[in-house]
Amino acid sequence: TSNQMWGGRFADGPDAIMEAINASIGFDQRLAAQDIRGSSAHAAMLAATGILRDNDAEAIREGLLTVLSEIEGGNFTFSAALEDIHMNVEARLKEIVGEPAGRLHTARSRNDQVATDFRLWVRDQMDAIDGALVTLLQACLAQASAGADWVMPGFTHLQVAQPVTWGHHMMAYVEMFARDRSRFADARARMNESPLGAAALAGTSFPIDRHMTAEALGFDRPCANSLDAVSDRDFALEFLSSASICAMHLSRLAEELVIWSSAQFRFVTLSDRFSTGSSIMPQKKNPDAAELIRAKIGRILGSTITLFTVMKGLPLTYSKDMQEDKEPVFDAADNLMLALAAMEGMLRDLTANRDVLERAAATGFSTATDLADWLVRELDLPFREAHHVTGTLVARAEAGGKDLPDLTLDEMTAVHSGIHQGVFDVLGVHNSVASRTSYGGTAPARVREQIARWEAALK
Ligand code: ARG
Repeated sequence: TSNQMWGGRFADGPDAIMEAINASIGFDQRLAAQDIRGSSAHAAMLAATGILRDNDAEAIREGLLTVLSEIEGGNFTFSAALEDIHMNVEARLKEIVGEPAGRLHTARSRNDQVATDFRLWVRDQMDAIDGALVTLLQACLAQASAGADWVMPGFTHLQVAQPVTWGHHMMAYVEMFARDRSRFADARARMNESPLGAAALAGTSFPIDRHMTAEALGFDRPCANSLDAVSDRDFALEFLSSASICAMHLSRLAEELVIWSSAQFRFVTLSDRFSTGSSIMPQKKNPDAAELIRAKIGRILGSTITLFTVMKGLPLTYSKDMQEDKEPVFDAADNLMLALAAMEGMLRDLTANRDVLERAAATGFSTATDLADWLVRELDLPFREAHHVTGTLVARAEAGGKDLPDLTLDEMTAVHSGIHQGVFDVLGVHNSVASRTSYGGTAPARVREQIARWEAALK
């Protein structure tokens, strides 16, 4: 038998394989709440504009609430024969309210319907992710303010570079995750237009009020071009792109936690609650949460590329290809939310090992730059020469199996006669970080200013 929604011109029903490739209900049932919201707004508008009788609109809206509670209560039977969430909801509405249900689809198409539902869903996710990012930012800030002046090695090339503070390092992630928030916020502002009422592609001859439905659904305005309204998926692409950048940031912090929690580093200790054991090696405590967070970028960026590839070269307007937009977005959203929550939990529980950090900060000749700068300031050497003198001192220290502050004054004056006792003041890691007071620098005073600025901004 042919389809009850569109089967008028069909004598035969679909092949089983046709139904299998065509049906999206297996995943787009996640749009149920948004679909019902959109339909209620549409019905109210049809009544307000005199296209639908008030009592029919009322029956539809009450019926839709029943459908929603059935779905939310798990008492709804989804049917693949009805393809997608839109037709599943409408078919059930028909069973509940009868004839008026058939009037709901006036001046509407599944093309503008799905575009509306999906935008609403993505917008909800952006709001949820924003909340998760705020919580994560607060966890980073808590770590930063606990160790605003704890000294640790700063790295370039994963080689010790210069001493920095733990607080400064945590605050670098605050900057990153705050940019992620603003990226989602930008995308949200751009996507907040309503496709509803674009109908199939060309608009409609019914005297609808698209501004009314846009407002009812929390959109800033209706999309201005009906062709664009039904074929645009930029909002999903921007969501995925923002999610990818955020996941990339998470992967960098996760990687640092993996490295730092190793026996070779011991910079941090992960809590038992965010670690796992080994089934064969009894001593093991593995950073599985950090590793999984590190890996999430793979599927999130994969989803982004999936949708870009689906959209590339699609002629206007709607093509069924676009039904493939949902699963990558759902998967990316779910996994980003999970990764954000796991990172937040891990950071809250994390112990930074202050003594280990401080000892490590003094290794690797980390204050060599301070020494070179001192030679410039005290002895008026050109920086290039100071660099060379310092390099020679580093080589001597290395040959003697010691660090820079362990060189004797004699050993130093042998390299440059002008060096005097005052040099030892700049070779300590605390002096080093305290001296880097330039705006955005690692001096604890500067770091505390940034912490205060962000704490106020997040209030
Ligand atoms: N399930 C479809 C989708 O997700 C809904 C739109 C179908 N429109 C159509 N004309 N076949 O894209």
